[in-house]
Amino acid sequence: MPEASASPKVTEAAAPPPPYPPPQAGEGREGFEPPRHVAIIMDGNGRWAAERGLPRREGHRRGVEALRRAVRAVGESGIEILTIYSFSSENWSRPATEIRDLMGLLRRFIRNDLAELHANNVRVRIIGERRNLEPEIRRLLEEAEELTRNNEGLLLIVAFNYGARQEIARAAERIASLVAAGAMAPGDVTEDVVASHLDAPDLPDPDLVIRTSGEQRLSNFLLWQSAYSELVFVPTYWPDFDRTTLENAIAEYRRRERRFGGLRRVVKP
Ligand code: FPP
Repeated sequence: MPEASASPKVTEAAAPPPPYPPPQAGEGREGFEPPRHVAIIMDGNGRWAAERGLPRREGHRRGVEALRRAVRAVGESGIEILTIYSFSSENWSRPATEIRDLMGLLRRFIRNDLAELHANNVRVRIIGERRNLEPEIRRLLEEAEELTRNNEGLLLIVAFNYGARQEIARAAERIASLVAAGAMAPGDVTEDVVASHLDAPDLPDPDLVIRTSGEQRLSNFLLWQSAYSELVFVPTYWPDFDRTTLENAIAEYRRRERRFGGLRRVVKP
């Protein structure tokens, strides 16, 4: 006889509720505008792999699959702009093998997915420092931008070799050159002038920044642009990110009251 029925019953702990449950009917705040620009810090590939006894590169590979899902889900949700943090200025400090894996994934992502992104009317733009990149990577990034230049669907901003402090320093360098050349007086350097020298000055700031994996920091991502972004941290590791994770994060965003330092809710155009 199996003994299972005789042994004391172990009650499984109930799964914790999602941290950001969708708004309930009648909650009264469902009507807040959806975000126009969502930025994502795709974190947790390594931990996802470690928990499964897999090499980190498998976590990154599954991360690319999650990225494909995310682009599709974001595009279908009517969000206009998606910015992804795909490789930071600080990621160069990782072991050479991991950097090779990440560069390989980027190459494959562009080679395999660019045609589909283009067919889906996605426009790709890159932010970050390009000067020191391998020529082949640079060419691929430029090719992605060039091919999709006239698309009018989702705008996908890939932050690659990106660091916000470095971006602000580059803006300061450009402005300093203008001042040194006599084209601008030091007193003319306003907030708008700095913003207009960032890597993608024509874009609206992100309304919502999502970070996966449970970490709660910005890690040098869009520090200038996220001054008034809503931050939503989800425990999901990036390879498990899906449409539901996105919808719950957006629902949380829509419950927030954005006041931009004032006393009243502000609706941005
Ligand atoms: C964070 O996970 C993720 C990255 C450093 C890179 C994000 C890259 C991808 C999603 C795949 C590559 C996609 C392109 C287009 C290059 P982590 O390694 O920091 O995870 P951990 O904190 O659990 O170790």
